[in-house]
Amino acid sequence: MLILFSFMFLIVAHLFEKAVNQATGFNLEIRQDLSMSMYHKDGDLILGGILQIHMQSNPLGSTNFKEPPASTDCFMSIIRYYRHRLAFHFTVEEVNNNAELLPNITLGYRIYDSCAWELRAIHGTLSLLSGTQVPVPNYSCEDRGVLTAFIGDLTSDTTYSISQLSRIFRYPQISYGAMDPIFSDRILFPSFFRMVPNERSQYDAIIQLLRHFGWTWVGILTSADYQGQSAGEELKWTIIQSGGCVEFLAMLPMIGIDQTIPEVVHLIHSSTCSVIVLYSSMVYLLQQFMFKVWRKHEIPPKVWILSATLPIITDFDIGKAFQILNSSIAFSIPKGEIPGFKDFLYRVNPTMFPNDVLLKLIWQGKFRCRLPGTKILRFWPDFDRLPNCTGTETLRSLDSSLYDVYNFRFSYNIYKAVYALAHALHQMYTAEPLQGPITDRESLRQRFQPWQLNHFLRNIHFKPSIGNEIFFDEKGDTPTRYDILNCIYLPNGALIQTLVGSFHPSATSDQQLFINESAIRWQPLFKQTPRSVCSKSCRPGYRKAPKEGSPKCCYDCVPCAEGEFSNATDMEKCLKCPDDQWPTKKRDGCIPRTIEFLSYEDPLGASLASLAIVLCAITAGTLGIFLKYRETAVVKANNRDLSFILLLSLMLSFLCSLLFIGRPEKLTCLLRQTAFGIIFSVSVSAVLAKTITVVIAFKATKPGSRLREWVGSRALSFLVLLCSLGEVLICTAWLLISPPFPDYDIQTDPGRMILICNEGSLFAFYSVIGYMGLLAILSFIVAFLARRLPNSFNEAQLITFSMLVFCSVWVSFIPVYLSTKDKYMVTVEIFAMLLSSTGLLSCIFIPKCYIILLRPEMNTREHLIGKQSTSI
Ligand SMILES: *[C@@H]1O[C@H](CO)[C@@H](O)[C@H](O)[C@H]1NC(C)=O
Ligand SMILES: *[C@@H]1O[C@H](CO)[C@@H](O)[C@H](O)[C@H]1NC(C)=O
Ligand SMILES: *[C@@H]1O[C@H](CO)[C@@H](O)[C@H](O)[C@H]1NC(C)=O
Ligand SMILES: *[C@@H]1O[C@H](CO)[C@@H](O)[C@H](O)[C@H]1NC(C)=O
Ligand SMILES: *[C@@H]1O[C@H](CO)[C@@H](O)[C@H](O)[C@H]1NC(C)=O
Ligand SMILES: *[C@@H]1O[C@H](CO)[C@@H](O)[C@H](O)[C@H]1NC(C)=O
Repeated sequence: MLILFSFMFLIVAHLFEKAVNQATGFNLEIRQDLSMSMYHKDGDLILGGILQIHMQSNPLGSTNFKEPPASTDCFMSIIRYYRHRLAFHFTVEEVNNNAELLPNITLGYRIYDSCAWELRAIHGTLSLLSGTQVPVPNYSCEDRGVLTAFIGDLTSDTTYSISQLSRIFRYPQISYGAMDPIFSDRILFPSFFRMVPNERSQYDAIIQLLRHFGWTWVGILTSADYQGQSAGEELKWTIIQSGGCVEFLAMLPMIGIDQTIPEVVHLIHSSTCSVIVLYSSMVYLLQQFMFKVWRKHEIPPKVWILSATLPIITDFDIGKAFQILNSSIAFSIPKGEIPGFKDFLYRVNPTMFPNDVLLKLIWQGKFRCRLPGTKILRFWPDFDRLPNCTGTETLRSLDSSLYDVYNFRFSYNIYKAVYALAHALHQMYTAEPLQGPITDRESLRQRFQPWQLNHFLRNIHFKPSIGNEIFFDEKGDTPTRYDILNCIYLPNGALIQTLVGSFHPSATSDQQLFINESAIRWQPLFKQTPRSVCSKSCRPGYRKAPKEGSPKCCYDCVPCAEGEFSNATDMEKCLKCPDDQWPTKKRDGCIPRTIEFLSYEDPLGASLASLAIVLCAITAGTLGIFLKYRETAVVKANNRDLSFILLLSLMLSFLCSLLFIGRPEKLTCLLRQTAFGIIFSVSVSAVLAKTITVVIAFKATKPGSRLREWVGSRALSFLVLLCSLGEVLICTAWLLISPPFPDYDIQTDPGRMILICNEGSLFAFYSVIGYMGLLAILSFIVAFLARRLPNSFNEAQLITFSMLVFCSVWVSFIPVYLSTKDKYMVTVEIFAMLLSSTGLLSCIFIPKCYIILLRPEMNTREHLIGKQSTSI
């Protein structure tokens, strides 16, 4: 069964190789011999390297932890990753040729290929530690040089495995690609350094990019390894924290990817976001995914944002499958310049590295020729028919998209890492006073302690011949910027990466991100900068209304309520206009309200004012008549003084109504109701006093009555004063405790602001009216009781009638007043004032004037008495 299975796998692998070779120009080979992945150069001090050169090891090599794994083969060497090994070699040579750095000491290296697999990484680390191909844990059989440090690896998972071993012995380890935040933990990883920033800074970069383009609705696709999972969750959380929303978070599993692909494709198809963040460190996994999706499924156009943990995009061309990722935006660690490395890369040939099997394979594959001394390769069917290589082949003839000699990102990190170690070693061997010259390797070995090297590495500060200063921060990270690239896959399969921006984590938050939008080429299907939002933004005049059960980026737009407005798009809440303003019809701004009050210009106000003045003039006329005929019987009857007081107060009460017209000011508000109350109570008190006069006059006609002396007495004027005093007290209390003030009313009528006098205390207002009413009712009752008393000119009846008019006006005033709003309230009050005063004037004085002016013959004391006697 197992044999059958392996056989099937080999066939599948073969077919796959052909397909991939055709599609992408990869080298794909299967190797059994672990030693093939060791590259070495002898020296006094050895740098151990665990680099990822192959993309993936045998996925069927399962482990039961009881016996050695059946197979630890590697697949798919990547020529770009092979450059990492070349950069390692190049830099070590350069250090050795540098007379100032480590003089008289040669640097060597041993490099193992991790194939992105932890097991291979551990194997390589153990081999380096024990100095033998077959690891012997806890023993060092290395006699050719002193192992000083580790450089590796590219992915976080393998880097973690290496550090598990290296930190036991406190060997320094410098990773050139692992961005996992965990490595910043100085307690767990005291001897760990890296040439890349902590991944967390990349979350900020992604957030800022999303914010820059207003993309609030995104999907996340990660690999289901340790790093991908934690990064996916953390990124999701960060996006939500920053106000965005995540439509989905999908993970690509290592095992069973074939079953997962349709699900993920369906998810992408049914998603409404147009931006997907691709966060994977598993290059192989992503390659599988893209390759299979590309062959079988359509993917709707999306903007893919690729993390810098995904070196494959930024440093590796994977061919047509990645057309799906066309026009993606990729974060990447910055590229650096390695002087002379380009020429070195062109010079490389198999005779330079006679033991390097991989180089031979690459060479034979690229140039379709056979190198002398190579074994027949099992999976290369026409291998024996190939011509011998001529020796004139040169890597210069390779396309630069395959063999990139211009963009060094991870290669540059290796360059820096080797230099950092060389400088640290140099300082270590030159710092302490020499305990004798370094004569041989034995003295080098004796004077080497890994933890000492850590100390020097931590404080390293040097400047390469080109480029910025190199140092580690207190967490062992290298602060650096991110480049933002736009990856265009041309129909002919070539990849173009244009630099469209950068992100500087150390800058202030508004200067961190720089994007040159005009340099970005979006997918042809997007006509312009794509949008990725859950709900369309709400126009001014509308506000967001969250949908229940949906993320907060999904909302409905509802118009602002009456009286509210929103003047910007996507407002969370509508605003209220200032009190003197009112929302426009569209509710997208405020306009001033129209101001209203009863003014003199207003026809109503003007006519009321002229009516008041006319009535006042009539009253004045009446007063004039009374003054002129003050010695006549009609005027003299029933207390002349009271008549004068009454006429005066009526005049004032007509004038008082003018206070109610015009813009309410502080003074007019104070005066209005108080003047009205006092003047009217004077009038009513005068009427009351008059009624009492009638009663007294009647009683006084009886013989022996002492009341007679009261009839014309001034005492009644004091009664007026006394009664009015009550009103004065009420008004004083009102003014002292809660005086009326100018106010406005915006509730009654939308769009208008009505200026009013706020009474301050309604209770006081009704007390004033109530007191007046009390006086009026009192005079009415007295007058009613006295109406049948014989009297000159039916005074009591006239008073009864006038009080009836007065009371009914004010009794009907209250409900009308309460049910009217805005400026008509004032009108009602003015009207009531005019009406009641006119009632008094006409009932009490018009009949008398009639007699005085038209019937002077009746205006005699005889007539008065006669009438009195006849009416009895
Ligand atoms: C290096 O070796 C040379 C010759 O053996 C010697 O003259 C020189 O002093 C040595 N330099 C150092 C720094 O040890
Ligand atoms: C490992 O080596 C150290 C010293 O070289 C020794 O003390 C220790 O016992 C060894 N451990 C094992 C498990 O052999
Ligand atoms: C290739 O070279 C080998 C010896 O190096 C020789 O035996 C063989 O004939 C050559 N093949 C061709 C096709 O020239
Ligand atoms: C990728 O996008 C670019 C720019 O929009 C376009 O020119 C190119 O044809 C696209 N490539 C493929 C393979 O569709
Ligand atoms: C932005 O990109 C355009 C087109 O590539 C280029 O012409 C322009 O100089 C760039 N602007 C900046 C500020 O880099
Ligand atoms: C919107 O209205 C508020 C409050 O009136 C004001 O502060 C803000 O400047 C206005 N915004 C715009 C864009 O007009």
